[in-house]
Amino acid sequence: MKKLFSAFLLAFISLSCLAQSAAKESLPATPSASHSLSYYVTISFAAVVFILFIVVLITLTRVLNLLMRQLEKQRAEAAGKTYVPQLSWWAKLTQQLNDAVPVEQEGTIEMGHDYDGIRELDNHLPPWWKWFFYITIVWGAIYLVVYHLTDSLPLMHQEYDTEVAQAKTAQQKLAALQPAAAALDESTLVYSPDAIIIGRGKEVFAKNACGSCHGNDGGGNSIGPNLTDPYWLHGGGIKNVFHTIKDGVVEKGMPAWGKAMSITDVRDVAFFVLSLEGTKPANPKAPQGELYKSETKAEKK
Ligand code: HEC
Repeated sequence: MKKLFSAFLLAFISLSCLAQSAAKESLPATPSASHSLSYYVTISFAAVVFILFIVVLITLTRVLNLLMRQLEKQRAEAAGKTYVPQLSWWAKLTQQLNDAVPVEQEGTIEMGHDYDGIRELDNHLPPWWKWFFYITIVWGAIYLVVYHLTDSLPLMHQEYDTEVAQAKTAQQKLAALQPAAAALDESTLVYSPDAIIIGRGKEVFAKNACGSCHGNDGGGNSIGPNLTDPYWLHGGGIKNVFHTIKDGVVEKGMPAWGKAMSITDVRDVAFFVLSLEGTKPANPKAPQGELYKSETKAEKK
C-alpha cells in the first residue's frame, strides 16, 4: 500500500511541476503588462483540469485503499485472526493535528455543566491552532525588530514616500527633455535633427495638406514656394520658419497654422521643413527670396 501511495505521490509532484513550468512560460515578460483574456481562459482551464486530476487521484486512492482493506480482512479471516483495520495516514495526521478526545472517552473531560441536556466538555485548543498562534508571536517579534527597532526595512508610509519621490524625479527628467508646450516660442527654439520630432512633423505636413501648396515633396508649386532650397522669403532657420508657419503670411495665401494646430505640431512641422533642405524634389520651383545663412553653426541654414 505504501509503495502504491508513494508512486501516486511522485506522479502528483511531477505533474504539478509541469503545471508550474507551463504557467511560467505563459507569463508575459513584464509583470505589469495587463493579461489578455486568452491568458485568463488558459489559466482557468489549466486550474480546472488540475482540480479534476486531484479529485480523480483521491478517488482512485480511496478505492484502492478499500480494496486493500478487504483483501487484508479476507486474509486475516482465512488465517483465523480477527482483523483490526489500520488507521490511514490522513486519519493519523488529523488525529495529531486536532488531538481531540475520542467520542467514546468524552466522559473523562465532562465539566458537569448541563444546560437542558447540552453538556460542556473541557476540550483544549487543537495543536494546529496553537502552532499558528505561536508563529504569529514569533512573526510579531521579528516584525518589531526589523521594522521598528533596527529600521532594516522601510515601513509602509516610508515606501510610499520613496515611490512618490522616485516618480517626481522621473517626471522632472521627462519634462527636462522637452520644453513645455507653453514655453515653445521662436525665441527659445533650437533646431536639431531629432528623428522623432521630424517624423511627427512629416505626419503633420501630410495631415494638413501642406503639399497642396508646397508640393508633397516640399519642392513648391504654382501656389507656394520651394521649401527645400536655402532661399527664404521670410527668413530661414528654425526661429523664422516656426514664426512663418505659426502666424502665416495670410495676405499672400499662407495660412496662420498656429490657430489651426497645437504649438507642438507647429514646432514639429517646422523641424520637418528644415530637414527638407538638400533633398531633391521632383519638380523644384525656382528659388525665391534671399539666401539664408545661419548665425550659429549649430543651427541649420
Ligand atoms: C493654401 C496654400 C498653402 C498651404 C496649405 C500651406 N502654405 Fe505655406 N505658404 C504658402 C504661400 C503662398 C507661401 C508664400 C508666402 C509669401 O509669398 O510670402 C507660403 C510660405 C511658407 C513658408 C515660408 C517659405 C519662405 O520662403 O519663407 C513656409 C515655411 C511654409 N509656407 C510652410 C507651410 C507648412 C508647414 C504648411 C502646412 C502646415 C503650409 N505651409 C501650408 C501657401 C500655403
